[in-house]
Amino acid sequence: KEGFAKSKLTFTPIAPVDAAVDAMTVPEGFTWQPVIRWGDPIFKGAPDFDLDNQTAKAQEQQFGYNNDYTDILEIPGTKGRRAVLFANHEYTNESIMFPASMPAEQKRAVGAAAHGLTVVELERKNKNKPWTYVQGAPLNRRFLNNTVYELTGPAAGSDLVKTFDDDKGRFIKGTLGNCAGGTTPWGTILSGEENFNGYFRSPGTSAEDKRYGLTDKATARNWEADDPRFDTRDARYTNEANRFGYIVEVDPFDPTSTPKKHSSLGRFKHEGANVIVAESGHVVAYSGDDERFDYLYKFVSAGKYKEGDRKHNMTLLSAGNLYVAKFTGNSPVAEIDGKGTVPADGSFDGTGVWLPLVVDGESAVEGMSVEEVLVYTRIAADKVGPTKMDRAEDVEPSLHTGKVYVACTNNSDRGKVGKEGATEINPRNENRDGHIVEITETGDQTSTAFTWNLLMVCGDPSQGDVTYFSGFPVDKVSPISCPDNLAFDSVGNLWISTDGAPAGIGKADGLFKVTLEGAGRGKVEQFLAVPNEGETCGPIIHDDERTVFVSVQHPGEDGSFEDQHSFFPDYVKKGATPARGQARAPRPSVVQVFRG
Ligand code: FEO
Ligand code: CA
Ligand code: CA
Ligand code: CA
Repeated sequence: KEGFAKSKLTFTPIAPVDAAVDAMTVPEGFTWQPVIRWGDPIFKGAPDFDLDNQTAKAQEQQFGYNNDYTDILEIPGTKGRRAVLFANHEYTNESIMFPASMPAEQKRAVGAAAHGLTVVELERKNKNKPWTYVQGAPLNRRFLNNTVYELTGPAAGSDLVKTFDDDKGRFIKGTLGNCAGGTTPWGTILSGEENFNGYFRSPGTSAEDKRYGLTDKATARNWEADDPRFDTRDARYTNEANRFGYIVEVDPFDPTSTPKKHSSLGRFKHEGANVIVAESGHVVAYSGDDERFDYLYKFVSAGKYKEGDRKHNMTLLSAGNLYVAKFTGNSPVAEIDGKGTVPADGSFDGTGVWLPLVVDGESAVEGMSVEEVLVYTRIAADKVGPTKMDRAEDVEPSLHTGKVYVACTNNSDRGKVGKEGATEINPRNENRDGHIVEITETGDQTSTAFTWNLLMVCGDPSQGDVTYFSGFPVDKVSPISCPDNLAFDSVGNLWISTDGAPAGIGKADGLFKVTLEGAGRGKVEQFLAVPNEGETCGPIIHDDERTVFVSVQHPGEDGSFEDQHSFFPDYVKKGATPARGQARAPRPSVVQVFRG
């Protein structure tokens, strides 16, 4: 818990960018370039991206679509010249990826191959140069819909997860809806299966189907037309959807390893998960369920972290206790002209408890077995009375202070008829711009009690929104809306990427630095903005090297193949012939921003 030094990454904040601008905007003195783009070839002999001649076979060997969580880990012993990049591919936008004339079957096949995960090696000449990816490198790997994941923890082997293809209930093909994630202290990657329900057609009548948003409607991508396991009305695949909605763990340094799905962390729309080692040695993982009025969870491992024992540490997320958060405020909040609220005592704050769902391998929820709690976690949580949150996205502990930050992105339904209204922890009705919760555990990180306060209530003060930045003058912050992903720099500043600002404050989404300590606490400074209709995600802050990475997801998402709204990142001019491997269409990409 060292003090906060000054970061080497100094910059002049950019002005807010209008939402329709189709450009990457970075601070003066910085430049940007892609590290890897949708369609870039990963393996030796893989074809270059060819927008007009896409095939599933090519896509399986290329970088997937809509990269979200991203991290870059140096390969030991390479003097900082070699690294692995991990990215997940949350979903696809078929209407801008493929010409209308492409046969539906081909769209499904290419789109499916653009899902999953990617590990790819990077290299650079020296620490001051930007990274390039290495086609054909030994650690390169694509995880596709037929990649097998091992289910761990108490739900593994349960009747609730058995299917026609897997009568043992232990091996699951594919991962879906991967959104945010985290990197563990032992160098593996976690990725959250979020909106998996959109891939299944289901009876939609049971309490479980309803609580998880599974309906009897043809899915948007219609994969059920090719593979019956995506139709859980088929008696052979009744439980197939129970095999998604977990935290996935991947070892990016072993391309032959079997990735895991950890049932101990519960099943819901996991935005992601982030791990911290408690003083007691247990590891603690935090995870949000990104749904309006859903919950915030915490996992505490049964075993203890052993420095340097990677094999042991990779078992830690397989067994432990699971909790769900209940927040209590200490003052009423008053609404100001429908523009937001202020708390009577000047700060949004209070206390909280972690309510147990699973303790010592046993269910803590009346009437539910431990398997049921971990497969139908939302229903278990409903029974113990946790706090309904405004869409908890990334939840990330600071390794400098142990404080935990929760990005509540927005909640258009708060306060609507029949819905819970504003409270001190979720203080806005029809919450358009979101807020950030700061949690301080009482004692060790494994504690079941905490205090909390809001670090910020987002919005654009210059447009009259009632905002709160921990007391920092509101006329001296960059406006910010819809916080989604969180990261920390090497000295403990919080960085926030946003998703939804165009519909909130009417500005492009971007990446923001937030000072947490000292007189500058609450100061928000915008570092970059992403192109038209793009979301900023997967921020990586290598401030000691003065380099920042982000995933640019779904640029130009509201266009069509024939009427594109973005040309990021190749920006091929109209009428020009694209260079080899380039395309005149938006390509979700990992971007590096550096001095130069
Ligand atoms: Fe895929 Fe919760 O954002
Ligand atoms: Ca997200
Ligand atoms: Ca208060
Ligand atoms: Ca989001």
